[in-house]
Amino acid sequence: MPDIESKNEPKKVLLGLTGGVAAYKAAELVRRLGDHGIDVQVVMTKAACGFITPATLQALSGHPVYTDMWDGRIANGMPHIELSRDKQAIVVAPATADFLAKAALGLADDLLSTLCLARDCPLIVAPAMNRQMWEHPATQRNVAQLKRDGVIVLGPDSGDQACGETGMGRMLEADELAEAISAFLEPKTLSGKRVLMTAGPTFEPIDAVRGITNRSSGKMGYALARAAIAAGAEVTLVSGPVSLAAPVGASMERVQTAAEMFDAVKKHTAKADIFIGVAAVADFRVSAPRKHKIKKNGDKGLTLDFVPNPDILAWVASRPKPPFCVGFAAESRNLDAYADEKRRRKKVKLLIANLAQSAIGADDNEVSMLDDAGTHRLPRAAKTVVARQIIEHIAALCGAKARKSR
Ligand code: C5P
Repeated sequence: MPDIESKNEPKKVLLGLTGGVAAYKAAELVRRLGDHGIDVQVVMTKAACGFITPATLQALSGHPVYTDMWDGRIANGMPHIELSRDKQAIVVAPATADFLAKAALGLADDLLSTLCLARDCPLIVAPAMNRQMWEHPATQRNVAQLKRDGVIVLGPDSGDQACGETGMGRMLEADELAEAISAFLEPKTLSGKRVLMTAGPTFEPIDAVRGITNRSSGKMGYALARAAIAAGAEVTLVSGPVSLAAPVGASMERVQTAAEMFDAVKKHTAKADIFIGVAAVADFRVSAPRKHKIKKNGDKGLTLDFVPNPDILAWVASRPKPPFCVGFAAESRNLDAYADEKRRRKKVKLLIANLAQSAIGADDNEVSMLDDAGTHRLPRAAKTVVARQIIEHIAALCGAKARKSR
């Protein structure tokens, strides 16, 4: 059985810190980027060192931190050029108003600003400042200039500020930044593709207050939606009831029952290039759900009649010109045999199989991918990482052309 490893080179970014109180979030950002498999080299301005020590960033990144143009540790004496040469991006977080002004003008009077000018990779900035500094026409002019120059500006957000004021200028949180940076670095293997997905459980009512459902957190489906968006796809996500934030950029259809999920899928199937059914759809629904709450009747039990729900995935796969169909199978035993049988019966090109007891609700997962070529096992990893690998495999199988992110 072939093991599928990610074909991507390990990603590397240079993270520049400038002198803002949000520098403390940069420590967390290093960790979150690491979760996405991104190696981080930190460079700090003198003012940034007033907020957080290089030792902290060195410990978290695992690399020496550079702060000085004249640092002798780079053999050819040119840290302002060498440090960014093997990186896929320079990220400046926090980016102060002063840094944005310097970058917009092309000033280069310290290591970080010189690196930004001498780079041959994209520049991403995460502004962080007091709301009046952000709203100042000079800052707005500088940000507009940076965008015209092709710089990617992430945030800022609005909310409570360290100065006690409330408004626009707060740096995005570390996990949001890591997600956006990681998505930016992904190869755009699904560019131009329309992906329709189902995720989460369905909820089938019994009466006004009760219902039956399947155990599903929606984490795997939502991670796949994010990975597909990061790969450049246009994603429609039909989601059952979950307590997760919608993936940024997904077109959401929120449903409760399998019948509603089926209707939403039918609406979008004709336009989809790829269909991924991740939802744990209830196989049965109560044949006649009661409008009002069923009252207890002494010691008497309750009998409910169930009717089968439509199989959404099988319906999509049986269209005359079906999209490339991907199914999921959560089994509690005999995983490979049941999964293979399910792939053939539902006529899907790719089936992702996992053991229900180790996948439901967890943040990581271990899956096998079954296709015409056989069974490929993926090593246990965070669902975000597994999702990227599955999307990579789907892109390869459905012949999408790889396009680099830059
Ligand atoms: O529930 P089962 O193990 O058959 O699910 C396998 C695959 O079929 C999953 O991808 C699931 O989303 C899909 N499915 C569906 N409609 C159903 C049942 C399952 O789309 N009614």
